[in-house]
Amino acid sequence: MNWIDSHCHINDEAFKDDLDEVLDRMLENDVTKAMIISSFTDDFKYGLTIKKEGIDFKHSLGIYPGDVDKVSEEDIQRYFELMKSAECDCVGEIGLDYYYGKDNKERQKEIFERQCIFAREINKKVIVHSRDAVQDTYDILKKTGVKGIMHCYSDSKEMAKEFVKLGFYISISGTCTFKNAKEPLEVVKSIPIDRLLIETDCPYLTPVPYRGKRNEPSYVIYTGRKITETLGMDIEEFKEQLNKNYSEFFN
Ligand code: NI
Repeated sequence: MNWIDSHCHINDEAFKDDLDEVLDRMLENDVTKAMIISSFTDDFKYGLTIKKEGIDFKHSLGIYPGDVDKVSEEDIQRYFELMKSAECDCVGEIGLDYYYGKDNKERQKEIFERQCIFAREINKKVIVHSRDAVQDTYDILKKTGVKGIMHCYSDSKEMAKEFVKLGFYISISGTCTFKNAKEPLEVVKSIPIDRLLIETDCPYLTPVPYRGKRNEPSYVIYTGRKITETLGMDIEEFKEQLNKNYSEFFN
């Protein structure tokens, strides 16, 4: 059974010199499904050109919380046009980041909420980035009634359960392989297994044993193994569950 990277940025500059090899290593490691996440319309268009026989790519586009001060109304309309297109599977990553953006919380909330409302209108799910902003994130998701994935989940297990109740999937990144990573593993144990996904968020958040180097989709196997071990599950059984979750997410 194959692995899945539910969140990667292989359209990033970090992969411009050796993308073919990165894709080969995905096949070698049975990572044959992945979602490419774009924060800019050009990245999105480029992402659509990335193809490899044997790998099933999904595509997502959204205005990242760190970019909300840079986008004009015209830009927003350009994003919305592409989000509507058949090639765009999800809206995201969108959300709130109060760690890097302390001074523009209102603007972040406004752009996040507009994208959630739009996603509902066009009947697509959202990929959510939330850092140091869990309550506001929750409130907007609840108010707008969207469903989707909490990407690179880093909040408490209690809140994870609340997001699950809203209909969200919880996606765990390579940080769960770090030595001091208690919380993500607690989260893994406390949510229903049918709401769990894994991801790399590459080129960032590289799991052990490659921590400190550039991340890539094939490294999702280290996150998968760590979680399998934590849950005391058979690895094939876990991969089967991941595939079920991922396909149900898109239904
Ligand atoms: Ni990301």
